[in-house]
Amino acid sequence: MTRKRSAKIIDGKKISKQVLEEVRGDVAALKKKDIVPGLAVVLVGDDPASQVYVRAKRRTCADLGVASFAHNLPKSCSEKRLLKLIDQLNNDPAVHGILVQMPLPGQISEKRALEAILPEKDVDGFHPINVGRLLNGEECFVACTPAGCHTLLQRSGYDPAGKHVVIVGRSNIVGKPLAALLMQKAEGANATVTVCHSRTRNMGKYTREADILVAAMGVPEFIKPRMVREGAVVIDVGVNRIPDAGKKSGTRLIGDVAFAGVAKKARAITPVPGGVGPMTIAMLMTNTVKAARLIAKRR
Ligand code: GUN
Repeated sequence: MTRKRSAKIIDGKKISKQVLEEVRGDVAALKKKDIVPGLAVVLVGDDPASQVYVRAKRRTCADLGVASFAHNLPKSCSEKRLLKLIDQLNNDPAVHGILVQMPLPGQISEKRALEAILPEKDVDGFHPINVGRLLNGEECFVACTPAGCHTLLQRSGYDPAGKHVVIVGRSNIVGKPLAALLMQKAEGANATVTVCHSRTRNMGKYTREADILVAAMGVPEFIKPRMVREGAVVIDVGVNRIPDAGKKSGTRLIGDVAFAGVAKKARAITPVPGGVGPMTIAMLMTNTVKAARLIAKRR
C-alpha cells in the first residue's frame, strides 16, 4: 500500500537557526567572562566551492560575535608554510578553533595538515585523536556533517534508539563517523547500524530494511523509491551540482536521493538544499564555542 500523503520535510534551515540562536546565547554568556570564542579559517588556493564555504563560515562567525581569523594562502603555498601557520594558530590564545578548508593543493599532504592541528582546537573533528575518541565513546569533537545529521534526527523527533539505521557511504568524513556516533551507547544514539558501500551486493535488500536511511555516497539520485521502506526516515547528505539551463547560474543542487519519488514513500525526508547542508555550519559554531569553553576551563 502506498502512503497517501507525502513525507514530512525535515527543515534543516529552521533547525540550524535554532542551534545558531543557542550558540549566540552561549557566546554572550562567555563574553561576560571575558572570553571571545575565536575561529581561524584557513583557505589555501582559490577553489570556487571552497571560497563559498569559507565565506559562509566567516559570515556566520561575524553574525554570532565569534572572532574569525581569516588566513588565505596562495595555491602555490608550500606544506612547510601551512604547517608553520597551523603551529602559530595552535599557540595563539585568541584562537580556540582551527579549520583548514579541504581540499588542499596537491603539493600539501592533507593528512599532515590535519594532524598538525591541536586536537583541542580541531573543531572539524578530523584529527585521528578525535576520530579515535569518537569510536571509543569518549568526549571529543565530532565532524560537522555527521554531527549535523545526528542533531537533525534528535530535534525533529526521530530518536534512533533501537532503530535500524542504514548508511550508504563509508567516507571518513560522513559514513564512518556517523556510524560510530549512532551506534554509541548514549542518549540520542543506541541504533543498530548497517553501513553499505560501492561493493555491497544487493544494496536494496539492506536499504529496504532501514527505519532511518542515510544517503552519503555522492551519487546524484542514487536512492530510488524501490530502495526505501514505506514509512522510513530519509536523510540526504548528497550535494551534487548538475547542469540546469533554466537557472541563472546554469546549475542546481541535487541530493543522493531521488527526492520526488522517495518523498511519496518516506515518513520524513531532508531536502537538498535546505536539509543537512545548513546544519554543518551550525555544528561548526557549536564546536567552536565548546572549544573556547574547554580551553578556558583548563587555563
Ligand atoms: N571541505 C568540504 N567540507 C569540509 C569540511 O567540513 N571541513 C573542511 N575543513 N573542509 C571541507
